[in-house]
Amino acid sequence: MASSALFHPNTSSLFHKTKPKAAPQKPKLYSFPVIACSSSSTDAGDSSPSLFSSLSHNHKNRRPAEENIRDEARRLAQSHNFSAKYVPFNADPQSNESYSLDEIVYRSRSGSLLDVQHDMEALRKFDGNYWKSLFDSRIGKTTWPYGSGVWSKKEWVLPEIDSDDIVSAFEGNSNLFWAERFGKQFLGMNDLWVKHCGISHTGSFKDLGMTVLVSQVNRLRKMKRPVVGVGCASTGDTSAALSAYCAAAGIPSIVFLPANKISIAQLVQPISNGAFVLSIDTDFDGCMQLIREVTAELPIYLANSLNSLRLEGQKTAAVEILQQFDWEVPDWIIVPGGNLGNIYAFYKGFKMCYDLGLVDRIPRLICAQAANANPLYMYYKTKWQEFKPVKANTTYASAIQIGDPVSIDRAVFALKNTNGIVEEATEEELMDAMAQADSTGMFICPHTGVALTALIKLRSSGVIGPTDRTVVVSTAHGLKFTQSKIDYHSNNISDIACRFASPPLQVKADFGTVMDVLRTYLEKAPK
Ligand SMILES: Cc1ncc(COP(=O)(O)O)c(C=O)c1O
Repeated sequence: MASSALFHPNTSSLFHKTKPKAAPQKPKLYSFPVIACSSSSTDAGDSSPSLFSSLSHNHKNRRPAEENIRDEARRLAQSHNFSAKYVPFNADPQSNESYSLDEIVYRSRSGSLLDVQHDMEALRKFDGNYWKSLFDSRIGKTTWPYGSGVWSKKEWVLPEIDSDDIVSAFEGNSNLFWAERFGKQFLGMNDLWVKHCGISHTGSFKDLGMTVLVSQVNRLRKMKRPVVGVGCASTGDTSAALSAYCAAAGIPSIVFLPANKISIAQLVQPISNGAFVLSIDTDFDGCMQLIREVTAELPIYLANSLNSLRLEGQKTAAVEILQQFDWEVPDWIIVPGGNLGNIYAFYKGFKMCYDLGLVDRIPRLICAQAANANPLYMYYKTKWQEFKPVKANTTYASAIQIGDPVSIDRAVFALKNTNGIVEEATEEELMDAMAQADSTGMFICPHTGVALTALIKLRSSGVIGPTDRTVVVSTAHGLKFTQSKIDYHSNNISDIACRFASPPLQVKADFGTVMDVLRTYLEKAPK
């Protein structure tokens, strides 16, 4: 006899020693580029117009057998005039406070966040078509370092770093997935896209920023600056990315993780990459406090998104989205937010494309938070009158379980400047959205479930229209969060109906029984 069954006990108990989970406490088309660019690893940037000729040869000779791609980059490197520096975030235009990127500094004199400011005058010497053409010429190649989605925009990221110092896993260039069935079936939308930033080297968007930060640290260490290692507090993904990039460069990494608050898949990443892992009996906010105190005492470089270098890499995902739409601007971008660096990074990427003439407008940004960790949402609801950190409650979207976000001011700036919106998702809503998306062929993480919930709500209230071109940013790979899916499909979460659970059926090894259950299934299956 077939029995309606949950997962095989061995599977459902994998890694989790706990009883069935309680639901977390209440808790416009442009003209085709004129400049033909090759896949040459030439550094763009010399402000002389003759630069174009060096970019326009069409055939790249194969490098000599004894030369590797770094050697080749060294041989072909050209000088340029681009530069960037740290300035206080949203500084008074009269302020002349600035720091070289080679200084180890995380905050301004007044204690505010820093921002990386590029020499826009130098970049403006080339027009929008030039940049589009240059970036398009580099996509997905193995040319060091431009084959990376981040370093293909090197002039806009860290213009002064020597390609030799870059630590890259050819990150970025992630899939922009047309969510055809999800859009049609659940939302009546025809132009819905999911930017899969989590289909990446360590399975989250954090790779985009970490390649930049670790490259700069690599440069500082070569300059004999006192950096004994790189440290971060993490809700899982930052530590995975940090440890992978540090391991690739042979740099010690130290990670502070909140004990029992990250997934096993996330925990095993820094362990495997040889990081020094401290599992600390506190939450993310507690780990963040500790790492700040420690890095003030020891020459350990702080890798949290407080550090504005990471946002320079993350902003390239915005440029990449425009590039993937052939430089047409989408209407909406939805980003799940925790510490709130990424929403600002998206703003920065779009704004830079606008300021340098690649596009003529910026999409509206939506930040989506878990209702169990929603300080930005609460602030938005007061019409930006009063910000209060919250005590973040447990959420399946564990990487955004943050109550006192470091980048709150950056996020508000991004949202105000894009006529943005903040939405929230309850545990039931985010888990249902994740299951619905998965049922249409995706395999998303709970954070993407939070973003999809925001979309569902704004679509049902009519704010987002049926034909609006909308991009949901998927921030991590679903495979990092399988336990949440197992709990859901086991119908094993108290207070949540798990309406879209699809548990396996346990069936006797008997032909007749198998045929019976198949007939029943096929009768009901969509025709
Ligand atoms: C999977 C995932 N989604 C979203 C976020 C939120 O990004 P941010 O902290 O920049 O808001 C994080 C950050 O830890 C994350 O790991």
